[in-house]
Amino acid sequence: MNLLIKGGTIVTPAESYKADVWVNNGIIAAIGKDLEISADKVVDAAGKLVLPGAIDVHTHMAMPFGGTVSADSYLSGTRAAACGGVTTIFDYPVQRKGETIMGLVNSKKEVLEKEACVDYAFHCCITDLNGGEILDEMELAVEAGITSYKCFLVYKKEKMMVDDATLVKLLIRAKELGALINVHAENPDIIDLNIAKFLKEGKTSAWYHYLSRPEFVEAEADKRAVHWAKNFDAALYIVHMADKEGLEACIEAKKQGHEIYVETCPQYLEFTSDVYKRKDGRNFVCSPPMKGQESQDALWNALKTGFIDTIATDHCPFQSYEKDWGKDDFTKIPNGCAGVENMYPYMLDAANRGRISFEKVVEVCAANPARIFGCDNKGSITIGKDADIVIYDREMDVTVSVKNMHSNYDHTIWEGKKLHGYPVQTYLRGSLIYDNGEFVGKPGTGKYIKRSAKK
Ligand code: URP
Ligand code: ZN
Ligand code: ZN
Repeated sequence: MNLLIKGGTIVTPAESYKADVWVNNGIIAAIGKDLEISADKVVDAAGKLVLPGAIDVHTHMAMPFGGTVSADSYLSGTRAAACGGVTTIFDYPVQRKGETIMGLVNSKKEVLEKEACVDYAFHCCITDLNGGEILDEMELAVEAGITSYKCFLVYKKEKMMVDDATLVKLLIRAKELGALINVHAENPDIIDLNIAKFLKEGKTSAWYHYLSRPEFVEAEADKRAVHWAKNFDAALYIVHMADKEGLEACIEAKKQGHEIYVETCPQYLEFTSDVYKRKDGRNFVCSPPMKGQESQDALWNALKTGFIDTIATDHCPFQSYEKDWGKDDFTKIPNGCAGVENMYPYMLDAANRGRISFEKVVEVCAANPARIFGCDNKGSITIGKDADIVIYDREMDVTVSVKNMHSNYDHTIWEGKKLHGYPVQTYLRGSLIYDNGEFVGKPGTGKYIKRSAKK
């Protein structure tokens, strides 16, 4: 089966140029002007952009969390991904005491083999070293393509947090193996202190979710993680960066030559902490929370100047009735919001309106995630790479509504967002999986991506 995409404008992190793309057996096999190659199918992309499929390196599908399970199954979550131009997702399975990395990952793989509508990879969240066994097992797991691990510096009561010594052991081990440690940075003790105070004072609305974990609570943990990474000369990836002070510490460390990567999410670029004053503020509750305008401005600025490496979603939606558990007590709101279908259209809309370039969007949504996390065959429209391709219409206007999304949730923080320009088709390894508003793929066609470690 081969495919010829004709007359579109290919976007890479370095340039945009008009050329045809020929796909053979799921691989980009030729790129050139006016290619004269026969094809089983010809796609007219004249006037459209031809983009690499996005790689969302931060999702939580079917995740047990907050007293429930996140609303998207692997099937509905990857279906939504396909419809938002995402052709690879990374999931975050959470290892628990006594559990092995491969036992956990293999159990997730069994589900994804049947359900995945796009390709997938795993970072594994480590919550317990099992007396050191996990550090030994990491060698095998890295060989199996699990080349990144996550540490929560928060979620102490949920028994997901690791202490600083565990983080440092993991940083050192990851360095030996060419792997990468991802960190969710917030200070749990100060959060608990704030929560106890607010509850005692009867301050229970969603606004106090923000006030219990404001800028400086995240910044302390960002800086602590950077401090350990610098002093143990290890690489570090900070997930869902949302605050200016922590971001600035990362930028400084990067300028000093340390291998620090920064991810942020569309929700931090779009919303500020003001959303928690809204009547439906609980629907926006995620951790870390949206921050003030200064932090948002700093994130946009860092994106433009090259200090944000990746955009990912932290996709972790819950149903309205679950968010409602916290109507009168913000501590009962399951933390997390939707985003996997919105990330690429949102970032591309920002480019279409001239806020950033299209080249920057493909860099942070596709090329950098592929490079940083060892997806060697993904992330750009280049000969030899997987034909994960999005055709984008700069003129199409879409208003996001839960009604036209493809997830399982019953509400979205993106409701009513007007986007100028939208993906019209998504191809996964050369097969059409999204076509003008419809999912046209098949669950189970997504493949596990065995990632490479750093040499
Ligand atoms: O609120 C969030 N972000 N929920 C998902 C878990 C996490 O912290 O990433
Ligand atoms: Zn997190
Ligand atoms: Zn997350």
